[in-house]
Amino acid sequence: MPKPQPINRLKGFRDILPEDWHYWEFALDTIEDTVMAAGFERADVPVIEKSDLFARSVGEETDIVGKEMYTFDTSKMSDNGRVKDKTLVSLRPEFTAGIVRAYIENGMHTFPKPVSLYAIGKCFRHDNPQAGRYREFTQASVEVFGVSDPLMDANLISVLWEMFSRLKIKGLKLDINSIGCNECRPKIKKLFADYFKRKESKLCEDCRKRLKKNPYRIMDCKEEKCQNIVATAPLAIDNICEECKKHFMSVLEYLDDMGVSYNLAPTLVRGLDYYNRTVFEISASEGRQSSLGGGGRYDYLVEQMGGEPTPALGFALGVDRIVDWLKDNSIKIPKPKAKVHVYGIHLGEDAKKIILRKIKDLRSLNISTGLAIGKDSIKAQLKAADKVNAFFSIIIGQREAVTNCAIIRDMRDGVQETVELDDLNKRVYEMVEERLKEQEEDRGKKVKTKVK
Ligand code: HAM
Repeated sequence: MPKPQPINRLKGFRDILPEDWHYWEFALDTIEDTVMAAGFERADVPVIEKSDLFARSVGEETDIVGKEMYTFDTSKMSDNGRVKDKTLVSLRPEFTAGIVRAYIENGMHTFPKPVSLYAIGKCFRHDNPQAGRYREFTQASVEVFGVSDPLMDANLISVLWEMFSRLKIKGLKLDINSIGCNECRPKIKKLFADYFKRKESKLCEDCRKRLKKNPYRIMDCKEEKCQNIVATAPLAIDNICEECKKHFMSVLEYLDDMGVSYNLAPTLVRGLDYYNRTVFEISASEGRQSSLGGGGRYDYLVEQMGGEPTPALGFALGVDRIVDWLKDNSIKIPKPKAKVHVYGIHLGEDAKKIILRKIKDLRSLNISTGLAIGKDSIKAQLKAADKVNAFFSIIIGQREAVTNCAIIRDMRDGVQETVELDDLNKRVYEMVEERLKEQEEDRGKKVKTKVK
């Protein structure tokens, strides 16, 4: 029989292996700690939604919806295999659309304002994979509903800024711009349309289409020939109305007050349709895939999607790119917290049976345990316990098996004590509890030192 061929993963999709998980854990924990400290609550939304949701919010003409969505026709899956109405569903390419839907569908407009939500999970975009650009990637999306005050724009940007400082990512550039509101955008759109119409023959094919549907989009084109035309185009910021100007100036003043440095980026419009007024992007270096996060206001989206008129704003981070950056720059991240509290080590057949029983007992007491069955020497098993940062090892050798005892070894300093098997569960439970308490106290001390 021929040897079966292995099946490889799809292009643009990745395996995240244990050796990288501590980077992921650090990034995800840091993001979550920062947003929770800023009063955000987690709200998960489905990975699949009706395609219309994304078309109506992100925008049908955007690259994300127009070219990159994984869309399936589920009508064939209807009852009895009969084709009912054509139902197109898509894997989410981002979170904002789903969170807005959830906000409306769950009546969150009745909640006290602001409603501050975050979500973390996989998103999917069928773009050409490159370094930093994946077809399956993880976003952390942070959204605030119900506040139009520019103070909230500045506050949200400062949360983003703080997140990156906690993530130890340096040399960042925060680009910011205002793209106007429903009052001034039609005028700006016309200015763009008139200007780009005159240059139409020099634009790329996509931009010629954008010219008809949404000339704002051309500002975002990465083609060099279009970039050259964009360089001399009229700017949204020079043509926004007085109210938008006032709003933007206040955002900048608050940022100055908080010591958040920014870069005025008059050509920044962002690649999604729902934005108005403040838009921003944060990047680590020059280049196409350098954007680590971005966001802005979307004051009309909730109403546009069938909800009450509700000002809103948010941003999303690309966690894969953050992890890539941490790895590429060899950033030292804190040692992972012990996940395995107690590691079982044995020597000989009798000891093997005892350790298996004892580890099962400890697991039922909610103590996380590990075992190195298959490794012969005690030394190799101790090394394995060390690798997973276990607090303690329980060692049962041939002598202990005969005398009904076990050795508890503190993996921090190597100090050992021998206990009778009958007392083992109680003693280990006490020791683990004590160690977890110490860890909590250490965390508290670190926070206090920071406060001083
Ligand atoms: P976005 O700029 O499309 O915005 O994506 C946000 C971040 O997700 C990017 O800055 C990037 O780090 C990451 N990202 C996007 N595509 C990929 C990819 N193919 N591979 C790896 N990382 C990627 C949004 O999605 C908006 N929903 C942000 C927002 C939230 N605006 C308001 N609230």
